Amino acid sequence: MSFFPGETVTENAAARVVRGVGELRAALVPARRAGQTIGLVPTMGFLHDGHASLLRAARAECDVVVMSLFVNPTQFGPNEDLDRYPRDEERDLRVASEAGVDLVFAPTVEEMYPDRAATTVEVSGNLTSVLDGDPSRRGAAHFRGVTTIVAKLFNIVGPDVGYFGQKDAQQAAVIKRMARDLSFPLRVEVMPTVREEDGLAMSSRNVYLEPADRLRAVAISRALAAAEQQALALDSLDAGLAAARIELAAAAIEPEYLEARDAETLEPAEHLRAGRPVLIAVAAQVGGARLIDNVLVEPIAD
Ligand code: PAF
Repeated sequence: MSFFPGETVTENAAARVVRGVGELRAALVPARRAGQTIGLVPTMGFLHDGHASLLRAARAECDVVVMSLFVNPTQFGPNEDLDRYPRDEERDLRVASEAGVDLVFAPTVEEMYPDRAATTVEVSGNLTSVLDGDPSRRGAAHFRGVTTIVAKLFNIVGPDVGYFGQKDAQQAAVIKRMARDLSFPLRVEVMPTVREEDGLAMSSRNVYLEPADRLRAVAISRALAAAEQQALALDSLDAGLAAARIELAAAAIEPEYLEARDAETLEPAEHLRAGRPVLIAVAAQVGGARLIDNVLVEPIAD
């Protein structure tokens, strides 16, 4: 049976589950000695088809696929949803096995943060202080939690490629910058956002949506499509943002932010330029779920 609609799944061996850092390193020694490539897909579990697309990409490109499964407490703020974050390890292991994952690294909090570890990894500046990094939102501490755990995973696994999703565009930009600044010998691959049939970006947090809010939430992807269409048609990011605001307002969604920024530096973007993709990013609370989504807009060069 397939967990991924529309996909024919061949029988894959069950992924091996590893809980300890030492055990994982030892498990990867033969592959490393044989010169095999290692792909890492970091996750917090409760897998959906967005994660599956990362796993499939890793399986297609790498000899060995490692998936981490760890709800990282240091990236949650005190008023965020750490305690109720959805978890289903048994199902995640089945999904990982079906996707051909070789090793699932599922450590405990104590294994990842022994003795209240005193070292963190932080990308400073604009990348982590705007959008979700704004102090009135998740703040830079959220990204410090992400970069610390991802740096640890990179150190533990030693992957050739790390796979992340474009839905978390700011996270991907921050991780790319960290990998470059700290000379991690790997490639950061960012895969396109996977959407439900009606356009809602897949997210583990979508389970928080009550049916009526689930219907309203589609306005977010509609708003981004309108933004892209209008920005390109009128060669104006302002026009794009205005079109998005109309779609959100029609669904009574008040965005926390709706902004156009350079996709790499996250500096504010005012104009469209060929070769310089602009990220239009949105965050909004819809019922019980804080949702984020984005679109990359780039005019076609003449
Ligand atoms: O995107 C996520 O699920 C998490 O932020 C990550 C990259 C697995 C780090 O905990």
